[in-house]
Amino acid sequence: MTDKIYRVAIIGLGRMGSTIDDEFPERAPPYSVAASCLASDRLQVVAGADIDAAKRADFAERWGVDALYDDYVEMIRKEAPDMVAVCTRGHLHAEMATKSAQEGAPLIFCEKAIACSMLEADALRNAVEENGTLFNSAVLRRFDVRYHQARDMIRNGDIGEPQAVVHYAGTNLLHGHIHSIDTLSFLLDDPRVESIWGELNSIDHRIPDNRLGEDPYGIFQLTFANGVAASSVPSGNWEFEVLGDRGSLRMFNNGTGLQLRQFQGNRSRIAADVPVEQVPEYSATQFCLEDLVLAHEEGRPTLGPIGIAHHLTEVCLALAESHRQGRRISLPLENRSLYIFHR
Ligand SMILES: NC(=O)c1ccc[n+]([C@@H]2O[C@H](COP(=O)([O-])OP(=O)(O)OC[C@H]3O[C@@H](n4cnc5c(N)ncnc54)[C@H](O)[C@@H]3O)[C@@H](O)[C@H]2O)c1
Repeated sequence: MTDKIYRVAIIGLGRMGSTIDDEFPERAPPYSVAASCLASDRLQVVAGADIDAAKRADFAERWGVDALYDDYVEMIRKEAPDMVAVCTRGHLHAEMATKSAQEGAPLIFCEKAIACSMLEADALRNAVEENGTLFNSAVLRRFDVRYHQARDMIRNGDIGEPQAVVHYAGTNLLHGHIHSIDTLSFLLDDPRVESIWGELNSIDHRIPDNRLGEDPYGIFQLTFANGVAASSVPSGNWEFEVLGDRGSLRMFNNGTGLQLRQFQGNRSRIAADVPVEQVPEYSATQFCLEDLVLAHEEGRPTLGPIGIAHHLTEVCLALAESHRQGRRISLPLENRSLYIFHR
């Protein structure tokens, strides 16, 4: 018996949906959703929706797909895809993913961040749970084999008990820190976040009308329920460090390098480098899409399910609330309508 091929419909036929691989000609594993489906023997793109006719025409030519729509709801109703991939800009994610779940899409890939406010995130979580949808948010380091290698080493006790985690990069909140906070959480096996302190750059403290029309840069310190502290350093090339009581792990240069240091002997506080094997590259987008298929077939949760995506969106918005109130914020976030526009 051959494996079922899952029919994928993409909403938003721009960079992430279709063309981003053009920007990285030297990059081997596929990046866009369409290219990742082409590389997969479990996925086939059967339809696409975009309000821009030129994007639809380009998509048809690139991928040989002729079921094209300007209305994504009509696409879902007519094509009844196994999977919907929401690849539009940030402010449309929640509405489109919610509607896709309500229209009965069994599997949903949704670009990050999933929402601009907790009101939107709550509605999306409800729709996904009520319709039994399998959901992955495209926080791609969670689906990157190199970060899995680091997470497995931490699980195996290679650095002892984790005590602190650090993220290095200057970045904005719902476009960037949703990635950094998700990765810190993933490396620790997703303990709940209890509280967060944060500060936004160059933004009026009051956040007028409880709404920001741009996605601000910021920094944070947060505490996980297992007592591990996390913080951000607003500089560096997307690096992550996990400090344990027996050593430390540092992921260099946006995941391309991994350094393990271990204390030598029981009493020593001198850490020495330990060689680490390099894992073969695999497309994180393809991994994320195929994880939905495998979760469906194996009857297990996905690796980036709605519960985690919802919780970590709440953490990001609580960072802004901390800035607004000038104090540390405990979760859950009371201010559900705080809205941050992001692209
Ligand atoms: N995970 C990653 O590494 C990564 C990389 C790039 C982009 N992204 C994310 O992907 C998302 C899309 O970014 P992009 O750079 O591909 O944007 P883009 O502007 O290139 O593409 C978005 C497309 O959505 C279309 N669109 C707008 N409104 C629509 C509607 N109502 N119905 C159907 N289509 C509509 C636009 O016409 C456009 O073609 C963003 O959230 C971005 O953060 C993620």
